[in-house]
Amino acid sequence: MAHINEHYLKLQAGYLFPEIARRVAEFGKTQPDADIIRLGIGDVTCPLPAAIVQAMHCAVDEMGDEDNFRGYGPEQGYPFLRQAICGAYADRGLEMDTDEIFVSDGSKCDTGNILDILSDDNVVAILDPVYPVYVDTNVMAGRTGSADANGRYAGLLYLPITAENGFVAPLPDRHVDVIYLCYPNNPTGTVVSRERLAAWVDYAREHQALILFDAAYEAYIRDDDIPHSIYEIEGAREVAIEFRSFSKDAGFTGTRCAWTVVPRVVQGRTADERRVAVHDLWARRHATRFNGVSYVVQRGAAAAFSPEGKQQIAERVQFYLGNADLLRAGLQRAGITVYGGRNAPYVWLKTPRSLSSWAFFDHLLQTCHLVGTPGSGFGASGEGYFRLSAFNHRDRIDEAVRRMAAALA
Ligand code: MLT
Repeated sequence: MAHINEHYLKLQAGYLFPEIARRVAEFGKTQPDADIIRLGIGDVTCPLPAAIVQAMHCAVDEMGDEDNFRGYGPEQGYPFLRQAICGAYADRGLEMDTDEIFVSDGSKCDTGNILDILSDDNVVAILDPVYPVYVDTNVMAGRTGSADANGRYAGLLYLPITAENGFVAPLPDRHVDVIYLCYPNNPTGTVVSRERLAAWVDYAREHQALILFDAAYEAYIRDDDIPHSIYEIEGAREVAIEFRSFSKDAGFTGTRCAWTVVPRVVQGRTADERRVAVHDLWARRHATRFNGVSYVVQRGAAAAFSPEGKQQIAERVQFYLGNADLLRAGLQRAGITVYGGRNAPYVWLKTPRSLSSWAFFDHLLQTCHLVGTPGSGFGASGEGYFRLSAFNHRDRIDEAVRRMAAALA
């Protein structure tokens, strides 16, 4: 019998979103006629932008044509897409080499896979609450030890972000080697100021730490002074890897395409203190374990940077932000304290009457037939909070607000 990776046995219950789906399915069995509104997982509802659909149609035709057919593509992504991505950074005044861009099938995969090239003995810091993938992939890799009664792992340094600290990630009070930051933040929907992000970059430079910066929700930033990329901060190129995605703005949650920036100047060290370019290890991993995103999808992704694509994506982002505004206003009218949702598609709320996150989940499901995500599912410091996703059709958001007004006011 094969030996298993026992670190998997240290994971908490199920992965959060399948666990929610399971509970909703249970509820559905008892109330099969309930009209359930799903504002749980952050999954887009608008169809792909027309410019992207058109580009993908053309690419399909090419693939069916003898002269234009393509087999394996470059593992790192086709040059046309990497150039378009570099162009988008250049529009913000950031210089990136196409060789520093790695096209992949998702930021979820990349933020997990990056651990392959990092040693087991790194001290890892995460925000709490946090996107569960960062925690679980570290558990799977054997970096964390077992969870305590609060679901916390001794091998991780948790940095609480709560209303008390304004959801501003505190700098670690000790040395860490790897830091996960996600801004605009999932799950709290809050943002990081330029000054605060600069403090993180300074910390990383001083401690020779690596920042894993997840900017999957960048398109949702509406306030001018909020950084769109960590590379807007001086010195970040030496210490940060950035993860970006087409999922939440271009609607690629099902289509799958993302990219990761690994600047050539980011270095790691060996046990005997030699310096190694992280880029080269990631390139080696990518080429060995990945055969690239399909040509059709990459053509679609490249169309996201065309003038029409940009316009159509901006309309979708505005639409979801409009949903977030409606949710925020509706909740506030019902006397609920809300955070986030201004520069992000997630509204983070304080549960009323000091209900636990899961108790509020049950309450909303029972009384409003509404599904959200319990804050505690994102970490111990998320207890007493709850996340609503703004990704849905407008009539469903209006109906959700109406139901919550009736049930919570
Ligand atoms: C979420 O709801 O947090 C996201 O949809 C998860 C993801 O992007 O994988």
